Amino acid sequence: MKTICMVSGLAAILVFISLPLGAKEVRGPMKPIAPLMIEHRLIERMIGVMEDYVASTQASKKINPAFVDMVCDFFRTYGDRTHHGKEEDILFARLAKKNLSDDHRKMLNSLIDERVQAREIYVRGDENAGSDILNSITAITVLYRKHIELEDKYFFIPCLQYFTKDEMDAMLSDMWEYDRNMIHVKYKEVVGQARDLIIK
Ligand SMILES: [Fe+2]
Repeated sequence: MKTICMVSGLAAILVFISLPLGAKEVRGPMKPIAPLMIEHRLIERMIGVMEDYVASTQASKKINPAFVDMVCDFFRTYGDRTHHGKEEDILFARLAKKNLSDDHRKMLNSLIDERVQAREIYVRGDENAGSDILNSITAITVLYRKHIELEDKYFFIPCLQYFTKDEMDAMLSDMWEYDRNMIHVKYKEVVGQARDLIIK
């Protein structure tokens, strides 16, 4: 697993160092897969915490609700909406319109299917908030590790060949805008959720 992290980390670095020297705009030359790979690194760190947490509860099976809340918020807001949101709404949506090779089309479809599986796990986690929550946490770690390996090692870099420089710049710009909006979307929802807690 360490090897995978090193390979994907190296790939992310290569994305940056392959950029033209002397570019005036800090963000201009960055490739649209760079923000996604950077997000993978944080998701990996959270997965590591979750794996350690599950291992530490093997004997007692006692789960701290605060930990579950953190994990749910991280994967709903950051993993699913922020990260998968950019992949699905921007990168994958534009890639789907290209004339992809059979292998790349298959990978794209399997990545889209994974999203559905991940969302089903979140729903199951809610329904089984008690004993099965550890199973749901483990299922998320397995799914995301697979997702990150597939994208970082086999998908992201090859898929850039289907885009022109202008298309890549436009995607990157749309990703920054997507991120900029996310904090407002998140906290608008928090206000709504807070209101729902008012005792009537
Ligand atoms: Fe991803």
